[in-house]
Amino acid sequence: MTRSIPLRTFPVLLRLALALCTLSATAATAATPSDCAPCHPAQTAAHAQSGMARALLSPRTPSLRKQLGPWSYEITGSAYSVTDGKETLRLNLPWAFGEGSTGQTFLFQRESRWYESRVSYFPGIHALDLTLGMEDIKPTTLTEAAGRLISPAELTLCFGCHATLHSKTDPTGPNLIPGVQCERCHGDAAQHLATQSPLRPLGKMTTEEMSDFCGQCHRTWSDISLNGPRGIRNVRFQPYRIATARCYDPTDARIRCTACHEPHHTRETSPQAYDAKCAACHARTALGTTASRHICKIGTKNCVTCHMPNLELPGAHKKFSDHRIRIVRANATYPD
Ligand code: HEC
Ligand code: HEC
Ligand code: HEC
Ligand code: HEC
Ligand code: HEC
Ligand code: HEC
Ligand code: HEC
Repeated sequence: MTRSIPLRTFPVLLRLALALCTLSATAATAATPSDCAPCHPAQTAAHAQSGMARALLSPRTPSLRKQLGPWSYEITGSAYSVTDGKETLRLNLPWAFGEGSTGQTFLFQRESRWYESRVSYFPGIHALDLTLGMEDIKPTTLTEAAGRLISPAELTLCFGCHATLHSKTDPTGPNLIPGVQCERCHGDAAQHLATQSPLRPLGKMTTEEMSDFCGQCHRTWSDISLNGPRGIRNVRFQPYRIATARCYDPTDARIRCTACHEPHHTRETSPQAYDAKCAACHARTALGTTASRHICKIGTKNCVTCHMPNLELPGAHKKFSDHRIRIVRANATYPD
């Protein structure tokens, strides 16, 4: 891994670039969720509240300060300032990446180039701290202390996963629709809007196809197994983690992403709500799986609290639920 292609972006460069090529070739007119609302009110209303719809926002950070070595940082709303005590750089932050329940990192422009802020907001500590992936960068100038320069290609990748792009050459241009909106998953809907012609039936994907589909952004098994990261830092890449669980069967729809997550909704946070998902296989009456012979002797409810443990991602000030469903033994190391 090199510094110029950080953890967030490197595994998927090529595939995402290809996906964006097809997008820009077809989508001349961009639909927004309000175009779909009259006929699909339930999906539209639920989706608007979800983390994915809100993956790119205008910053509304409360006034916060942070000292990192010689550099002092302050963010208030969309105003960002960095000082070494002698000189001060004042910048405007047009974009916040992340809806803010895990963390928010900011992008800003200086002399027509784009930068990723060196500090991010972490709700887990209600404070600013070093942006994930910047541990090894040692700034020597005020500009470097403010943020990491990102290339136009990487800029397109950032917006490609956090927004609904209709131009890969001008990702931040007027056609940008912030957030992962309907057409980002369902494809160009111009024809569907005109004549209700069928869209790609996403509900028909196999478990493996679904993992790869969601993995365009959440990273696939092959992204991580080829490029890493290894160890606890891959806990957030659910398509990879779940593929390494003994429960995973690439053709059994009971273990695909949408068996547990309604893609238009905020994720369910009550552990008990997932019990039925496990019971779809781990019940004596379940058909077509050897899981029916494996019934827990320890617990009868809240299965995920023991078998999908919440693990801290270093530097993220946040725990992720490990999708490698398993028996967690005391003192066992993280299985990779
Ligand atoms: C004028 C009404 C109308 C509008 C506007 C509309 N749709 Fe539809 N949509 C339909 C109808 C009718 C169906 C078919 C319903 C069925 O067969 O159950 C459908 C089906 C769908 C399906 C299901 C496809 C499948 O096979 O699983 C998706 C996804 C979908 N629409 C997405 C969208 C999106 C995204 C938008 C906005 C860009 C949109 N629709 C706008 C009428 C509309
Ligand atoms: C275009 C990129 C993209 C695709 C495709 C995508 N996601 Fe996401 N997803 C994101 C981003 C970005 C976030 C982070 C949102 C945030 O915290 O700001 C996210 C967050 C989530 C969350 C947690 C947020 C919440 O509201 O609870 C779930 C669950 C999720 N995605 C599931 C899925 C599933 C299931 C699929 C496939 C059907 C999928 N995603 C496809 C980009 C994507
Ligand atoms: C390959 C797709 C992809 C790219 C490229 C990408 N992100 Fe994300 N990002 C995601 C997904 C998916 C999540 C949700 C992770 C989760 O909750 O499991 C996310 C989450 C985040 C979050 C929420 C906090 C966190 O750490 O989870 C921030 C902030 C963020 N991304 C910033 C960025 C920035 C800035 C860039 C560009 C420098 C970028 N992302 C590029 C897919 C991507
Ligand atoms: C993160 C990707 C994603 C986004 C964004 C998304 N959808 Fe979907 N949608 C899916 C998937 C996956 C399915 C198939 C669900 C399944 O597995 O049965 C689906 C199914 C549907 C269906 C078929 C009925 C149903 O609910 O299963 C409709 C209609 C629909 N979506 C409309 C929309 C509209 C309107 C929007 C925008 C407001 C939207 N979707 C945004 C992924 C997405
Ligand atoms: C067997 C059920 C199950 C399946 C299948 C599943 N998840 Fe999850 N997922 C969960 C649970 C449980 C949580 C934790 C919910 C909470 O926040 O309390 C979760 C949380 C998440 C989150 C929030 C961040 C985190 O890791 O805590 C994302 C993003 C996510 N899942 C994406 C996916 C994707 C993508 C797939 C398909 C590769 C998938 N999930 C398959 C049960 C499942
Ligand atoms: C698609 C069906 C399916 C689903 C859904 C499913 N499992 Fe499994 N699970 C299996 C199979 C198959 C095995 C392996 C049995 C074997 O080795 O023969 C297994 C194994 C396990 C094991 C033993 C793993 C080990 O390391 O020995 C645990 C624990 C487990 N599952 C818990 C769960 C929990 C908790 C859920 C819900 C979050 C769940 N499973 C959902 C099919 C499933
Ligand atoms: C309090 C924690 C806890 C809860 C809650 C729990 N389990 Fe377990 N489970 C365990 C432990 C510990 C083991 C290993 C027991 C042993 O050593 O054999 C286990 C074993 C298993 C196995 C492997 C059994 C075998 O014969 O191979 C499965 C499958 C499983 N659990 C599924 C579930 C399901 C489904 C639920 C929810 C209905 C659940 N568990 C709830 C702790 C828990």
